[in-house]
Amino acid sequence: MPGEKSKKLYEEALSLFPGGVNSPIRAAVKPYPFYVSRAEGPYLYTVDGERLIDYVLAYGPMFLGHRHPRVLEAVKEQLEQGWAYGTPTELEIKLAKKILKYYHQGGMVRFVNSGTEATMAAIRLARGYTGRKYIVKFNGCYHGAHDAVLVGAGSAAAEYGVPSSLGVPEEAAKLTLIARFNDLESVERIMKKHGDQVAAIIVEPVVGNAGVIPPKLGFLKGLRELADQYGALLIMDEVITGFRLGLGGAQEYYSVRGDITTLGKIVGGGFPIGVVAGPREIMENFTPSGKVFNAGTFNAHPVTMAAGLATIEVLETGEPYRVAREAASKLAKTVEDLISHYSIKATVNYVENMFQVFFVDGEVASPEDVARSNREMYNKLHQELLSRGIFIAPSQMEAVFASAAHTAEVVEETIAALEDAFKRLREQ
Ligand SMILES: Cc1ncc(COP(=O)(O)O)c(C=O)c1O
Repeated sequence: MPGEKSKKLYEEALSLFPGGVNSPIRAAVKPYPFYVSRAEGPYLYTVDGERLIDYVLAYGPMFLGHRHPRVLEAVKEQLEQGWAYGTPTELEIKLAKKILKYYHQGGMVRFVNSGTEATMAAIRLARGYTGRKYIVKFNGCYHGAHDAVLVGAGSAAAEYGVPSSLGVPEEAAKLTLIARFNDLESVERIMKKHGDQVAAIIVEPVVGNAGVIPPKLGFLKGLRELADQYGALLIMDEVITGFRLGLGGAQEYYSVRGDITTLGKIVGGGFPIGVVAGPREIMENFTPSGKVFNAGTFNAHPVTMAAGLATIEVLETGEPYRVAREAASKLAKTVEDLISHYSIKATVNYVENMFQVFFVDGEVASPEDVARSNREMYNKLHQELLSRGIFIAPSQMEAVFASAAHTAEVVEETIAALEDAFKRLREQ
């Protein structure tokens, strides 16, 4: 549990930052967030002297584990040369080539600074390219913190989205049409009515922002077909899944291609990044070659480029995927066994190297199913694990991520903690 030093820092932070933090999820660790001073491999070290096994990985990016020597070396080397020029660098060419090799061969890239910026730019690009105004988004999918995607379903999943934040004008939200994940009919209904005005369908191919929800067989393919039928673009938001489900992300994993791909997290090696990638014909509409405006002081930041490139080079050995998969599958299986052993109503969703447990009766195939789950139980599990030195996401709505640093030994330690934690949950 967080100690006195963290408590003091948080009390001070409460007077400096709204809610004491700079991104809301960080305040979900109760009774107050722990403050980290150092990280290495699978471990976070807190200012209170604790060592935690980290399954949050900065909410996804740290797929190689913390402070990976190859990434560290690349970053140091770049720092020695200076770190922000406001000019192009050779590094951005190298990283773009790597990305295009796995996502859009022969295509183009625009580097930005976050997943939010990537989806914002991708949506503007789709609108500019098609000359249409609507986008279709799935209830419960998260694509960042800008107006077009801070929109959810109204009552009875009305087709026009309603703002899911104060400050998002209703008029803006109405341009986002809301469908249900894993429910092709809900998309078809919208496309029948508005299809000729839909610029893009944007989707997380595996939902990673409502726990973990894989697409049902045929769902992504169905989206591809509907987009083609109505002349809309399909934006695959692979900010989480990109370079996580394999070098080619979810699109390779499920053999379905989007027209535009957005990336972030892993591809920056732990430094701020967002990527829009797609075919030349679409991408050339970005300024300065086209008329869809995008710009950024820090776009293609050299340190990020160096870290991203080093990360992909390590990923290309295949070893990180093997280790992370082994860890996640063992842990997911352990949780399943414990649920069954203690006759707990719960289900585990697992994809490759990410998973989540939901305390709910029946399958979880949509964010609507997640809404039925017992979040109180999840929070208890989080707390029980934290008190045993294991950090999983503090919210049911996030994923448990494995990394290349979660070796068999680390997994064994985690399994022992899971066994204790579930026993305790059952006793309560
Ligand atoms: C699928 C997806 N898209 C976009 C974003 C936004 O990325 P960022 O937090 O880097 O702005 C996230 C963040 O978690 C995400 O999971």
